Amino acid sequence: MDDHLLLVGMMGAGKTTIGRLVAKRLRRPFHDSDEEVLRRSGLSVPELFELHGEAAFRAEEKMVLAAALASGVPSVIAVAGGAVFDPESRRRIRDNSATIWLRALPLTLARRVGSGVGRPLLEHDPAGTIWRLDAARRPVYGELASAVVDVDGSQPLETAERVVRLARGLLEDPCRRSQGAGRSP
Ligand code: S3P
Repeated sequence: MDDHLLLVGMMGAGKTTIGRLVAKRLRRPFHDSDEEVLRRSGLSVPELFELHGEAAFRAEEKMVLAAALASGVPSVIAVAGGAVFDPESRRRIRDNSATIWLRALPLTLARRVGSGVGRPLLEHDPAGTIWRLDAARRPVYGELASAVVDVDGSQPLETAERVVRLARGLLEDPCRRSQGAGRSP
């Protein structure tokens, strides 16, 4: 049970809400990428985008992932949605290997993010951007995931329960982890 449990997925998949519930159930610390970016930089995600641009934000999210993974205590980590495009972050995620993809249909994600308030990438055409980002990221999440939980139509407590059950299996028995569990056939 010594490894971190990583949650990956798109904006609106519920990484923060589910991550918090799962961490409580597993009695582990919880690291949320956006919250740690705020703590480290003193700036919220929209402020960071506005003042320093997306590249600076991506550098921060990379650093907070590295710091969370390096923390000595096994934790639950909500990985930033776009961090998986950084090769070093991908390698770090692979090395940890207990990774669950909170997967949702683009329609579910678009409904959940609504007008995109607080998410700078979604300022213009939130639904269209969600579809485009989801199409690009889906194969990467699928490749990194050792298990997948479909969140469409589920309430947070129910999803968290499924994640906890899966996570216990993955963390207790590393043989159950096969990265690429979410890859399309
Ligand atoms: C982003 C996801 C957001 C936030 C930023 C960029 C992304 O976090 O970090 O707006 O590229 O997927 P949530 O996944 O918590 O919405």
